[in-house]
Amino acid sequence: MNSDEILSIFKRRGVLWPTAEIYGGAQGLYDYGPMGSALKRRLEDAWEAWFVGLSQNYHRIDAVEMLPEAVVRASGHLDHFADPLVTCGNCGTVIRADELLEAKGQKDAEALKGDELAARLEQLHPPCPRCGKGPLGPPRAFNLMFGMEFGALGKEKAYLRPETAQSSYLAFSRMWNIGRKKLPMGIAVIGKAFRNEIAPRQTLFRMRVFTQAELQIFFDPEDYPSEWKAFGEISVPILFAEKRLAGAVRPEEVSLRELVEKGYLPPFYAFHMAHTYRFFRDVLGYPAERIRFLEKNERERAFYNRIQFDVEAELVSLGGFKEVGAIHYRGDYDLTKHSEGSKTDLSVTTEGGKHLTPHVLELTFGVDRNVWALSDIHLRKDGERLVWSLPSYLAPVTVGVLPLIPKEHGVLAQELADALRSAGVSVTLDESGSVGRRYARLDEMGTPLAVTIDGQSKQDRTFTIRERETKEQRRVGETELLPLATKPAVPPWGCLAFR
Ligand code: GLY
Repeated sequence: MNSDEILSIFKRRGVLWPTAEIYGGAQGLYDYGPMGSALKRRLEDAWEAWFVGLSQNYHRIDAVEMLPEAVVRASGHLDHFADPLVTCGNCGTVIRADELLEAKGQKDAEALKGDELAARLEQLHPPCPRCGKGPLGPPRAFNLMFGMEFGALGKEKAYLRPETAQSSYLAFSRMWNIGRKKLPMGIAVIGKAFRNEIAPRQTLFRMRVFTQAELQIFFDPEDYPSEWKAFGEISVPILFAEKRLAGAVRPEEVSLRELVEKGYLPPFYAFHMAHTYRFFRDVLGYPAERIRFLEKNERERAFYNRIQFDVEAELVSLGGFKEVGAIHYRGDYDLTKHSEGSKTDLSVTTEGGKHLTPHVLELTFGVDRNVWALSDIHLRKDGERLVWSLPSYLAPVTVGVLPLIPKEHGVLAQELADALRSAGVSVTLDESGSVGRRYARLDEMGTPLAVTIDGQSKQDRTFTIRERETKEQRRVGETELLPLATKPAVPPWGCLAFR
């Protein structure tokens, strides 16, 4: 399905739409409707259960989105969080320089900075993609943060956080003191982040306001839990930076155990790669062949990272693999910088008496991007039928209750819907149109189960259930229905709790 088709279904069904649509929309901003926000909430819940549920010493916090300038100065974002841009001297269009070079087949475009970037642009002379002319001016760094004046006098500056991670670093000291004073300690935030993207595009993939789910794991790189060293025999698809720069596009299946034995990756990193891979494959249901880890080399990775593999999903609507998450080994960069910036010592003494500045492993996840990926991957056409084959625990609505003739069966339908709702099931009661049309609406929204109420239901309280995937229908009694509706197939995450 192409991107316009997905967007049109999203708008029609209340998943999401452009912000300020009646004013023509605003670039890079989208609002979620009732269906979208339900899906997003379930996705966030699944992420939280899977990652924050890894340890009793991992907690989620809820922090404000605005950061005083001192924070982003210390974190390095004020100096380094910038994209290179050029302006067309003919039509005035502003373009990202690295994307211009990528379009010219320059595989190392992301790694080029400063003079090197200017020299490559000079050498290749790409025309302006808008007017076809130019000249394109020299590249300049454009900081992506939204800054604002703080308070009535406007003497202080503040910034909207460019990543939720910063909120976790700011909470570290407080969380250490009120917590168990044990490493590893995890602090997660699910919330909005803000970037003044030069060219917002590809709908949910480059937004100016977006939702991140990020877990910062603070740990001792020389002494971490033994289960982080035992991740079993799992192979994951990896596209190594060296091979990518030599022209490879397909990942190779690599045994994580072998990578660790070769010393290519530390076990703590490999363990979280395995856990992350399973999340995308088993919880979100992305087919294994549409997932890859993309290694970023020293010149490409974010300024705070020592090891970076992006997780990418292959999306037909966007023409290839796109980043949907990442695993960042940030070392002691963040706590060291914030210790210096705040003049607060953020080093700790562990139970064993070791004194250190904890290192950070960051698991970062783009919530909106995965809403899109879930539609690209799971929306399918079945003849005339459009079916959103979402895993049932992610479906915005779990059960559709359909009175065959609303005037006659409406009261019982309402009773059943109320009973299901009080059992915690998300229900829609749909009375309009033929049952076929109502099934079609439910299929399009990914609702796994439909329950039809007819004359017989009034007599013996049996109902016809219909499953989205198989279209199979059968008659069940009330006692059989409730467990089916309250227990949609749960993801295979063993001991982890799921609400
Ligand atoms: N916190 C990592 C990122 O925003 O990419």
